[in-house]
Amino acid sequence: MFNFEQLRYHLPRTKSFKAGIDMVIFAISGSLREGSSNTEILKKIKLHLPKSTEFILYDGLSRLPHFNPDMDKENVPAEVVELRGMIKRSNAMIISTPEYAHGIPGSLKNALDWMVSTTVLENKPMAVIFGSASEGNFAKDALVEVLKTVSARIMPETLVQISASQEKVDDFNLSDDLKNLLDNLLSQTVLKS
Ligand SMILES: Cc1cc2nc3c(=O)[nH]c(=O)nc-3n(C[C@H](O)[C@H](O)[C@H](O)COP(=O)(O)O)c2cc1C
Repeated sequence: MFNFEQLRYHLPRTKSFKAGIDMVIFAISGSLREGSSNTEILKKIKLHLPKSTEFILYDGLSRLPHFNPDMDKENVPAEVVELRGMIKRSNAMIISTPEYAHGIPGSLKNALDWMVSTTVLENKPMAVIFGSASEGNFAKDALVEVLKTVSARIMPETLVQISASQEKVDDFNLSDDLKNLLDNLLSQTVLKS
Protein backbone atom coordinates (compact mmCIF):
# COMPACT_ATOMS: atom_id res chain seq x y z
CA MET A 1 0.00 0.00 0.00
CA PHE A 2 1.33 3.47 -0.83
CA ASN A 3 2.64 5.50 2.06
CA PHE A 4 0.99 8.91 2.24
CA GLU A 5 3.74 10.33 4.45
CA GLN A 6 6.35 9.33 1.89
CA LEU A 7 4.28 11.04 -0.76
CA ARG A 8 4.05 14.24 1.25
CA TYR A 9 7.81 14.32 1.59
CA HIS A 10 8.22 14.27 -2.18
CA LEU A 11 5.56 16.79 -3.08
CA PRO A 12 6.68 20.25 -4.16
CA ARG A 13 5.51 23.06 -1.90
CA THR A 14 3.18 25.25 -3.89
CA LYS A 15 2.31 28.70 -2.61
CA SER A 16 -1.21 28.54 -3.98
CA PHE A 17 -2.16 25.73 -1.60
CA LYS A 18 -4.46 26.68 1.27
CA ALA A 19 -3.04 26.42 4.78
CA GLY A 20 -2.68 22.79 5.83
CA ILE A 21 -3.19 21.50 2.28
CA ASP A 22 -0.39 19.86 0.34
CA MET A 23 -2.23 18.21 -2.51
CA VAL A 24 -5.31 19.00 -4.59
CA ILE A 25 -7.35 16.30 -6.33
CA PHE A 26 -9.99 17.49 -8.75
CA ALA A 27 -12.84 15.07 -9.42
CA ILE A 28 -15.56 14.98 -12.06
CA SER A 29 -18.57 12.70 -12.09
CA GLY A 30 -19.82 11.97 -15.58
CA SER A 31 -23.35 11.52 -14.26
CA LEU A 32 -25.63 14.47 -13.51
CA ARG A 33 -28.20 12.19 -11.93
CA GLU A 34 -29.38 12.84 -8.39
CA GLY A 35 -28.16 9.81 -6.43
CA SER A 36 -25.60 8.90 -9.09
CA SER A 37 -23.46 5.90 -8.15
CA ASN A 38 -20.44 7.53 -9.82
CA THR A 39 -20.84 10.67 -7.72
CA GLU A 40 -21.26 8.51 -4.61
CA ILE A 41 -18.06 6.60 -5.39
CA LEU A 42 -16.16 9.89 -5.61
CA LYS A 43 -17.61 11.07 -2.30
CA LYS A 44 -16.45 7.82 -0.69
CA ILE A 45 -12.97 8.23 -2.13
CA LYS A 46 -12.81 11.63 -0.46
CA LEU A 47 -13.32 9.96 2.93
CA HIS A 48 -10.21 7.83 2.35
CA LEU A 49 -7.84 10.72 1.66
CA PRO A 50 -5.64 12.39 4.25
CA LYS A 51 -6.99 15.66 5.71
CA SER A 52 -4.17 17.56 4.03
CA THR A 53 -5.52 16.59 0.60
CA GLU A 54 -8.06 19.00 -0.79
CA PHE A 55 -10.65 17.08 -2.78
CA ILE A 56 -12.74 19.19 -5.12
CA LEU A 57 -15.80 17.51 -6.58
CA TYR A 58 -16.79 19.56 -9.61
CA ASP A 59 -20.43 20.62 -9.60
CA GLY A 60 -20.49 22.73 -12.74
CA LEU A 61 -20.80 20.12 -15.48
CA SER A 62 -24.47 20.91 -16.20
CA ARG A 63 -23.76 24.66 -16.42
CA LEU A 64 -20.97 24.45 -19.00
CA PRO A 65 -22.01 25.87 -22.36
CA HIS A 66 -21.92 23.57 -25.35
CA PHE A 67 -18.46 23.59 -26.83
CA ASN A 68 -18.12 26.01 -29.71
CA PRO A 69 -14.67 26.91 -31.06
CA ASP A 70 -16.01 30.40 -31.91
CA MET A 71 -16.55 30.99 -28.17
CA ASP A 72 -13.03 29.80 -27.39
CA LYS A 73 -11.35 33.02 -28.55
CA GLU A 74 -11.38 36.41 -26.75
CA ASN A 75 -14.40 36.06 -24.48
CA VAL A 76 -14.15 32.53 -23.17
CA PRO A 77 -17.22 31.79 -20.98
CA ALA A 78 -16.61 32.30 -17.25
CA GLU A 79 -17.64 28.70 -16.47
CA VAL A 80 -14.94 27.43 -18.82
CA VAL A 81 -12.27 29.74 -17.39
CA GLU A 82 -13.22 28.51 -13.91
CA LEU A 83 -13.00 24.83 -14.91
CA ARG A 84 -9.65 25.30 -16.64
CA GLY A 85 -8.32 27.06 -13.54
CA MET A 86 -9.47 24.29 -11.20
CA ILE A 87 -7.88 21.60 -13.36
CA LYS A 88 -4.67 23.59 -13.70
CA ARG A 89 -4.16 24.00 -9.97
CA SER A 90 -4.89 20.33 -9.19
CA ASN A 91 -2.09 17.80 -8.75
CA ALA A 92 -4.20 14.93 -9.99
CA MET A 93 -7.68 14.17 -11.27
CA ILE A 94 -10.28 11.45 -10.84
CA ILE A 95 -13.14 10.97 -13.27
CA SER A 96 -15.93 8.54 -12.42
CA THR A 97 -18.37 8.00 -15.23
CA PRO A 98 -21.13 5.78 -16.53
CA GLU A 99 -21.35 4.50 -20.06
CA TYR A 100 -24.29 5.91 -22.02
CA ALA A 101 -25.36 4.30 -25.30
CA HIS A 102 -21.96 2.63 -25.61
CA GLY A 103 -20.11 5.93 -25.26
CA ILE A 104 -19.02 8.74 -22.95
CA PRO A 105 -21.80 10.89 -21.46
CA GLY A 106 -22.19 13.98 -23.65
CA SER A 107 -21.73 16.43 -20.77
CA LEU A 108 -18.38 14.90 -19.84
CA LYS A 109 -17.15 14.89 -23.44
CA ASN A 110 -18.28 18.51 -23.70
CA ALA A 111 -16.13 19.47 -20.71
CA LEU A 112 -13.12 17.67 -22.19
CA ASP A 113 -13.65 19.36 -25.57
CA TRP A 114 -13.29 22.75 -23.83
CA MET A 115 -9.84 21.65 -22.58
CA VAL A 116 -8.45 20.65 -25.98
CA SER A 117 -7.16 24.11 -26.94
CA THR A 118 -5.28 24.35 -23.61
CA THR A 119 -2.52 22.37 -21.97
CA VAL A 120 -4.27 21.96 -18.60
CA LEU A 121 -4.64 18.20 -18.98
CA GLU A 122 -1.15 17.65 -20.33
CA ASN A 123 0.74 15.18 -18.14
CA LYS A 124 -2.00 15.40 -15.48
CA PRO A 125 -2.05 12.21 -13.38
CA MET A 126 -5.53 10.85 -14.00
CA ALA A 127 -7.55 8.01 -12.54
CA VAL A 128 -10.78 6.91 -14.18
CA ILE A 129 -13.57 4.82 -12.70
CA PHE A 130 -16.17 3.41 -15.05
CA GLY A 131 -19.30 2.81 -12.97
CA SER A 132 -21.99 1.38 -15.19
CA ALA A 133 -24.58 -1.34 -15.52
CA SER A 134 -22.06 -3.28 -17.64
CA GLU A 135 -18.27 -3.13 -17.39
CA GLY A 136 -18.37 -0.01 -19.54
CA ASN A 137 -15.88 -1.24 -22.13
CA PHE A 138 -17.12 1.11 -24.84
CA ALA A 139 -16.90 4.15 -22.57
CA LYS A 140 -13.48 3.01 -21.42
CA ASP A 141 -12.08 2.74 -24.93
CA ALA A 142 -13.58 6.08 -25.96
CA LEU A 143 -12.48 8.01 -22.86
CA VAL A 144 -8.97 6.55 -22.84
CA GLU A 145 -8.61 7.66 -26.45
CA VAL A 146 -9.74 11.21 -25.61
CA LEU A 147 -7.45 11.40 -22.57
CA LYS A 148 -4.50 10.18 -24.62
CA THR A 149 -5.29 12.83 -27.22
CA VAL A 150 -5.03 15.59 -24.60
CA SER A 151 -1.85 13.95 -23.21
CA ALA A 152 -3.26 13.23 -19.75
CA ARG A 153 -1.23 10.73 -17.75
CA ILE A 154 -3.25 7.52 -17.59
CA MET A 155 -2.07 3.99 -17.03
CA PRO A 156 -3.86 0.64 -16.82
CA GLU A 157 -3.26 0.82 -13.04
CA THR A 158 -5.31 4.02 -12.76
CA LEU A 159 -8.40 2.66 -14.51
CA VAL A 160 -11.09 0.69 -12.70
CA GLN A 161 -14.31 -0.77 -14.12
CA ILE A 162 -17.24 -1.34 -11.75
CA SER A 163 -20.19 -3.16 -13.25
CA ALA A 164 -23.62 -2.86 -11.61
CA SER A 165 -22.29 0.22 -9.83
CA GLN A 166 -25.70 1.24 -8.48
CA GLU A 167 -25.99 -2.02 -6.56
CA LYS A 168 -22.47 -1.91 -5.15
CA VAL A 169 -22.27 1.68 -4.03
CA ASP A 170 -24.12 1.16 -0.76
CA ASP A 171 -21.21 -0.92 0.48
CA PHE A 172 -19.48 1.84 2.43
CA ASN A 173 -15.96 0.40 2.19
CA LEU A 174 -13.91 1.09 -0.86
CA SER A 175 -13.04 -2.02 -2.82
CA ASP A 176 -9.41 -3.11 -3.01
CA ASP A 177 -9.50 -2.10 -6.67
CA LEU A 178 -10.33 1.47 -5.73
CA LYS A 179 -7.72 1.57 -2.97
CA ASN A 180 -5.10 0.38 -5.45
CA LEU A 181 -6.29 2.95 -7.95
CA LEU A 182 -5.82 5.70 -5.37
CA ASP A 183 -2.36 4.43 -4.47
CA ASN A 184 -1.36 4.31 -8.11
CA LEU A 185 -2.74 7.76 -8.78
CA LEU A 186 -0.89 9.23 -5.83
CA SER A 187 2.37 7.56 -6.81
CA GLN A 188 1.95 9.08 -10.28
CA THR A 189 1.69 12.46 -8.60
CA VAL A 190 5.06 11.89 -6.99
CA LEU A 191 6.60 10.95 -10.32
CA LYS A 192 5.28 14.17 -11.82
CA SER A 193 6.94 16.41 -9.25
C1 LIG B 1 -29.65 6.75 -21.49
C2 LIG B 1 -28.88 5.65 -20.82
C3 LIG B 1 -28.01 4.88 -21.55
C4 LIG B 1 -27.27 3.86 -20.93
N1 LIG B 1 -26.41 3.14 -21.67
C5 LIG B 1 -25.64 2.22 -21.05
C6 LIG B 1 -24.64 1.51 -21.78
O1 LIG B 1 -24.44 1.71 -22.96
N2 LIG B 1 -23.88 0.62 -21.10
C7 LIG B 1 -24.05 0.38 -19.76
O2 LIG B 1 -23.32 -0.42 -19.19
N3 LIG B 1 -25.00 1.03 -19.07
C8 LIG B 1 -25.78 1.94 -19.67
N4 LIG B 1 -26.72 2.62 -18.95
C9 LIG B 1 -26.89 2.32 -17.51
C10 LIG B 1 -25.94 3.12 -16.66
O3 LIG B 1 -24.63 2.62 -16.80
C11 LIG B 1 -26.33 3.01 -15.20
O4 LIG B 1 -27.61 3.54 -15.03
C12 LIG B 1 -25.35 3.74 -14.29
O5 LIG B 1 -25.60 3.40 -12.97
C13 LIG B 1 -25.48 5.24 -14.42
O6 LIG B 1 -24.52 5.87 -13.61
P1 LIG B 1 -24.91 6.71 -12.31
O7 LIG B 1 -25.45 5.73 -11.29
O8 LIG B 1 -23.66 7.36 -11.87
O9 LIG B 1 -25.96 7.71 -12.73
C14 LIG B 1 -27.44 3.62 -19.55
C15 LIG B 1 -28.33 4.42 -18.81
C16 LIG B 1 -29.02 5.43 -19.43
C17 LIG B 1 -29.94 6.30 -18.60
